[in-house]
Amino acid sequence: MNYFIGSAMFVCMCFGITDKQIKTAVETHGVGNMRDLKKVMALGGQCGKCVELAQTIIDDTIIDESLFKEVG
Ligand code: FES
Repeated sequence: MNYFIGSAMFVCMCFGITDKQIKTAVETHGVGNMRDLKKVMALGGQCGKCVELAQTIIDDTIIDESLFKEVG
């Protein structure tokens, strides 16, 4: 079950972390995997049910960013 607030979706219910917060972490902190993400937020530290979805969001954000980079 997913929970939405506005256009954001809660990924981690234990710590109230949304998909937008994860995407921002990838874009601004260079997060590339769960180990990096756990350095900037507590996601996954309790029940762990969010880890798989969080990794998918990290991967999708990295792919989205790479589509808009200039190839030079
Ligand atoms: S939903 Fe993220 S640790 Fe429980």
